[in-house]
Amino acid sequence: MFKIGIIGIGNMGEAILKGILSKTNINPDEIIVSDTNSQRLEYIINKYSVAATDNNVRLAKLSNVVILSVKPKDLESVLSPIGVFLNQKILISVLAGIKISKIKQFAENAKVVRIMPNTPAMVGESATGVCFDGNISGEEKQWILKLLNSFGKTVVVEESLMDAITGLSGSGPAYVLAFIDSLAQAGVKQGLSYNQALELATQTVFGTAKMLMETKEHPAVLRDKVTSPAGTTIYGLHQLEKGKLKDTVMNAVESATQRSKELSE
Ligand SMILES: NC(=O)c1ccc[n+]([C@@H]2O[C@H](COP(=O)([O-])OP(=O)(O)OC[C@H]3O[C@@H](n4cnc5c(N)ncnc54)[C@H](OP(=O)(O)O)[C@@H]3O)[C@@H](O)[C@H]2O)c1
Repeated sequence: MFKIGIIGIGNMGEAILKGILSKTNINPDEIIVSDTNSQRLEYIINKYSVAATDNNVRLAKLSNVVILSVKPKDLESVLSPIGVFLNQKILISVLAGIKISKIKQFAENAKVVRIMPNTPAMVGESATGVCFDGNISGEEKQWILKLLNSFGKTVVVEESLMDAITGLSGSGPAYVLAFIDSLAQAGVKQGLSYNQALELATQTVFGTAKMLMETKEHPAVLRDKVTSPAGTTIYGLHQLEKGKLKDTVMNAVESATQRSKELSE
């Protein structure tokens, strides 16, 4: 038996595999992956030395825990043939917008975990929302969270908040990238080259996030430390206020959350 089977080893499947192998004590010979794309499978076998198959039924029978990382449109075709082999097994679904109740239509007796990671999972820094089916024990939850923390940080929520997670952190990397690009272009307007400005903007966002995490201070406290009376920063902040930064960000998250709800209906 394998400890973990991953069905669909595309972008997100590989990010999860990489995290598990580098940050947990699970070894390559305890993992099996499957994919319909034979070139993809060959690449994964060569890079990570895990077992592989093009047969999802075989994977489901041979795995204690199954991670499902195919596109949402493939849910039914992938799960219907293997649902019966997932009795009392943990099934972790990465599929955006697919509710636990929908998954249980095809895998009635599985212990379903629904997660919403984001693209920084590819560098081991996902912000992942997770919700659990009712039949999962506390001990199992702890084990699952350790697994999920191998490719980033995890926040447990009720399933009703998964759309909010999608609107905030699922789409969040695009918002942050838009901000970084804006900052870099602003630097160009002030005479810096784009490359210089991009490096400064990226490091500023990275360093600020790290400082926030390490000090655990409220953002307003750290903001006040860089904002001296009548100094440059308060002039800059005033312009952000005039441009309704907070209003715009709140609208963006609200709109993306609403869209996630529509798509999962
Ligand atoms: N990327 C993100 O930021 C992100 C964030 C949160 C959640 N997600 C979720 O993660 C899931 C995977 O996304 P992704 O970006 O990793 O997609 P992806 O790169 O397209 O990976 C999916 C893989 O599954 C394979 N596949 C298709 N049908 C299969 C089957 N019947 N059996 C086994 N493998 C099969 C695909 O092969 P083919 O190429 O041959 O079709 C592909 O290699 C999606 O459900 C998405 O909603 C993604």
